[in-house]
Amino acid sequence: MNISTLKTQFSEKDGSMYGRKNVEESTAMLYHENSKFNSYSIRSQGEKIAAFNNPYVNERSSQPFKCYPGYPTIDLSAYKDIEFESNFQSLITNRRSVRDFKTSYKVSLYELFVSLYHSYGVTKWAKMQGLEEGKEGHLGLRNVPSGGGLYPIEMYVVIFNGHIPAGLYHFRPDTASLEVLKEGGFAEDLLKIVQAEPYVNMKSASGILITTGVIERLMIKYGERSYRFLMQEAGYVGFLYNLLCESLGLGCCWLGGYHDDNLNEFLGIDGVFETVNNVIAFGSPNEQCSI
Ligand SMILES: Cc1cc2nc3c(=O)[nH]c(=O)nc-3n(C[C@H](O)[C@H](O)[C@H](O)COP(=O)(O)O)c2cc1C
Repeated sequence: MNISTLKTQFSEKDGSMYGRKNVEESTAMLYHENSKFNSYSIRSQGEKIAAFNNPYVNERSSQPFKCYPGYPTIDLSAYKDIEFESNFQSLITNRRSVRDFKTSYKVSLYELFVSLYHSYGVTKWAKMQGLEEGKEGHLGLRNVPSGGGLYPIEMYVVIFNGHIPAGLYHFRPDTASLEVLKEGGFAEDLLKIVQAEPYVNMKSASGILITTGVIERLMIKYGERSYRFLMQEAGYVGFLYNLLCESLGLGCCWLGGYHDDNLNEFLGIDGVFETVNNVIAFGSPNEQCSI
């Protein structure tokens, strides 16, 4: 479907309350229309998914995460044995966006471990089925559901103030470690890239969580549907991260306005096959504020 057929389709509906032009010329609507299933496409997509389930692909789908060989790492896995207590009901009812943080607060390694590992680290290794005879493999499962278990999300954290040097880190989900991508104070750089102020006092945060999506991991199996799945999963991860911050007595706030390409460049990612989807400032709450 292209813009002109979209317009024809929408002209048959009452779009007045949406401001007709907003929906008729929307790339989002165009994408949604083009990724809809009908009785034919759901079948052909089903065949594609079935074809995906073969020993060759299964073997290669066992490591759906990035790693940065040769970069220094900080191992957080020692914290795996510590159980953390939380009251689920109080977590979900008390969670609110926090926009101002205690500037002196240094985020600890334990807090980084809990918030990153429990939102997207590998928390269970499951034996893979459907491999060639004699081969063995394990799939790393996470605490969030993932279409096809393909786990398209990557997590980066920028530390402004913490028990580790300020800098940009990549979270490696299998080993629960942080890969040190670059050290330095990047708060000023990020203030130019992310539109946080005046509502969010970003500089007072202990750091920023940035998650990205590697769409290629999903496209091979789910075609046009992939972008929907990617956004759903980004939402699960971001929300779980938000609840985990709450459980640690930290607060956080999503930041929806950022210059995509500048942020991609800052992370050192290509910005096409891997793109940013969550930008979340976190720290020790200074005061609760409303929108
Ligand atoms: C995708 C997304 C983007 C957001 N972007 C911003 C933002 O740029 N600045 C901001 O102050 N709040 C932002 N928020 C937070 C919302 O304003 C907030 O969740 C909403 O007002 C409800 O308040 P609560 O989170 O305290 O319940 C964002 C939330 C989401 C889910």
